[in-house]
Amino acid sequence: MKKLIVAIDGYSSCGKSTIAKALAKYAGYTYVDTGAMYRAIGLYTLRHGLTDEAAIISALPGIHVGFVMADGVQHVTLNGEDVEQFIRTLEVGNCASRVSAIKEVRAYLVAQQQKMGEAKGIVMDGRDIGTVVFPNAELKLFLTATPEVRAQRRFDELVEKGLKPDYQAVLADVNDRDYRDTHRAESPLRQAEDAIVVDNSTLTREQQMEVIIRLFDEKCK
Ligand code: DC
Repeated sequence: MKKLIVAIDGYSSCGKSTIAKALAKYAGYTYVDTGAMYRAIGLYTLRHGLTDEAAIISALPGIHVGFVMADGVQHVTLNGEDVEQFIRTLEVGNCASRVSAIKEVRAYLVAQQQKMGEAKGIVMDGRDIGTVVFPNAELKLFLTATPEVRAQRRFDELVEKGLKPDYQAVLADVNDRDYRDTHRAESPLRQAEDAIVVDNSTLTREQQMEVIIRLFDEKCK
């Protein structure tokens, strides 16, 4: 069967990674969470107190982001250290959003992502996968849900991790991040013209998977 590149883009906390992982499992494809790569660089800048754009750019050659499998789950690495447990906080998410606006950071990670897709058979999720990383991807999905639904999902995730988030702060963060992701000069989040939009505000995960698997199977024919 022919192997495809599946590009999944969309706003933060709209369930991209859950869907991308499930689709990769169904298809027997490799899954790549590009947000985790920006988060790893965000973590590096936080740890080293780098806020200045020029300082971040000059640090890039010393920042190596990769992936390892740990108990069957993909974890991101930063200079060889498994940093998965540190990158999912709001603070690191905000650093990731800031570093992702820097042209040189994007070029650095996009080149790595394109290499990962050379053999196809990959499901990659992010913000610019269907527009910049793989403009020729065979299947492009653009996931969306209302900010309130996404804030509630993020809130629930944080509670599950034992944190005590404030819903209004989480919602404000979702709105801020949407604004930054869609208004930055470099590769702003936008829907590729040939992407299929899936609004999952009122869909269960199973309903959404049904829709997406149908689209994938059709493309494989
Ligand atoms: O999907 P996420 O929340 O883990 O992404 C973290 C940040 O990284 C997000 O604010 C936008 C940025 N990002 C990006 O600019 N391009 C990507 N392909 C993936 C993520």
